[in-house]
Amino acid sequence: MSRHGAPSAVSCDSNPHPVNFYAGIATGKITPELVKEFLTREGEVLLSKGEDHYYFVRERFNAEHSPLDFLFVNRAGFNGMIRFNRKGGFNIPFCRKPQRFAQTYVTKIVNQVAWVSKIIKAKEFTFKCQDFNKTIQDASPNDIIYRDPPCIERHVDYYNGWDDGHERELFDRLSGFAGKFILSTWHRNDYRENEYVKGL
Ligand SMILES: C[S@@+](CC[C@H](N)C(=O)[O-])C[C@H]1O[C@@H](n2cnc3c(N)ncnc32)[C@H](O)[C@@H]1O
Repeated sequence: MSRHGAPSAVSCDSNPHPVNFYAGIATGKITPELVKEFLTREGEVLLSKGEDHYYFVRERFNAEHSPLDFLFVNRAGFNGMIRFNRKGGFNIPFCRKPQRFAQTYVTKIVNQVAWVSKIIKAKEFTFKCQDFNKTIQDASPNDIIYRDPPCIERHVDYYNGWDDGHERELFDRLSGFAGKFILSTWHRNDYRENEYVKGL
């Protein structure tokens, strides 16, 4: 509980860009109206100029780190993937759909932003860019931790990597946590199982 009696929540990620995006919604810097205006405008340019405009916005994002540009490249990049190179540059190629920001898709995103904004306002949310170790360390036994780490041995290159050491460290930290936790991970696909589910 926060000092106002409202339930409070801390949302953390090691990637500063989604954190900045959600923090922007929390402070009112990013609103559904602004998102609609931005995506409609940039979407029209994308439609007329094609992939050159995607790469223009990607370059602008890598130079200025605007949360709205992050939204644009995330939604117009291949398969909605998030991946950065060693220098911290977003490097996902274009999804090859110049009509990406058709009105129905913009409305869908705007509704998602409105929904997130409503949730954030109903609780007292704080957004932090920090490692999971610190988040777990700062939690008290009355807290519930929800952890959604990269899927070990699958797509893990969101911002920093995720390997065996990270998975085991997370296991140790959560095992040592006195409160309750929820952990999302993958179980199996058509070809193999996640051995860590049984092993840890
Ligand atoms: C499966 S994604 C989940 C993202 C989020 N739950 C969502 O649905 O948008 C895994 C997330 O873990 C983050 N991550 C990777 N290593 C981390 C670390 N050491 N500490 C905190 N977050 C980390 C990645 O940046 C990525 O955003």
